[in-house]
Amino acid sequence: MTKANAAQLPRADRFTAFTTAWAPRIESALDALLPREDEAPAELHRAMRHAMFPGGKRLRPLCALVAAEVSGGDPARALVAASSLELVHTYSLVHDDLPCMDDDALRRGRPTCHVAFGEATALLAGDALLTLAFGAVASAGPDAVSSLALAAGSRGMVGGQVGDLAAEDRPGAVTLDELQWIHDRKTGALITASFEVGLFAGGGRREALEPLRRYGRALGRAFQVVDDILDVTSTAAELGKAAQKDAARGKATYPGLLGLVESRRIAEALATEAVALAPVICAAAGGAGVDSRRGLLEDLAQRCVARKT
Ligand code: IPE
Ligand code: IPE
Ligand code: MG
Ligand code: MG
Ligand code: MG
Repeated sequence: MTKANAAQLPRADRFTAFTTAWAPRIESALDALLPREDEAPAELHRAMRHAMFPGGKRLRPLCALVAAEVSGGDPARALVAASSLELVHTYSLVHDDLPCMDDDALRRGRPTCHVAFGEATALLAGDALLTLAFGAVASAGPDAVSSLALAAGSRGMVGGQVGDLAAEDRPGAVTLDELQWIHDRKTGALITASFEVGLFAGGGRREALEPLRRYGRALGRAFQVVDDILDVTSTAAELGKAAQKDAARGKATYPGLLGLVESRRIAEALATEAVALAPVICAAAGGAGVDSRRGLLEDLAQRCVARKT
């Protein structure tokens, strides 16, 4: 899609158009990164591909490519590094579904990796996806590697997962501050890092980094609030993963703590917070096509809250 075409589209369609243009290239990049199914150890490579294809929304690589675009960089240059975010995310889902964690049998409309391949292979497939991610992000340089490492580790996603599991042991006792702490790490950290990695990998203007980070934090928090809401309001058939499961497991969630109505209000307020940063990001990045870039960020934020899956 050319910039001229993008400018003619209604604003609400800009993220859809961006996704249509880039999703096939993300799939190809992931396919090229993953070892073939017949390469030894074939069972492990099959398990990695089972977890990865068909995918979900590919939100994190799309966020990375959006970051490259809106910061004045080149999304095409960021494609491999953007794929590393999806590798880390998919590993996190494989481990999240294990019996020792959330114990789920359905993911992306298919049996979870451990159901299809056994626990040991699923554990190792997750390890291998994580390792592959760091090989992929290395192409974008040390800042991108540091960003991904911080977001994925004990100060980021893994730390949040520990908090999520620990909260199961004290149902009803988790405060809103504690819940935000968990969500900001288990989900928000990787989404925020997607914007950082995309800017670094695409060669965007550094001036846009801090407002993009703040945008990513609001978006990441909104995304997990909506994930919690959908667990209550949706079905496994719609989501391609278990529904009505969080309360049964004693998970700390927004609807559990505040109810559905207040949770929706918070998700929308977070999207509004992200939308308000769109002009700040575009001004910091400078250059032409500000309306189009601002619209892309606005629609991405709206989409994360209005989503049904
Ligand atoms: C699910 O993530 C787990 C969370 C961090 C909320 P997504 O909703 O992005 O899952 P996919 O990648 O689309 O399957
Ligand atoms: C998952 O959160 C977060 C990570 C995988 C890091 P959830 O446990 O809520 O995700 P779903 O609902 O199983 O997709
Ligand atoms: Mg979980
Ligand atoms: Mg889970
Ligand atoms: Mg969930």
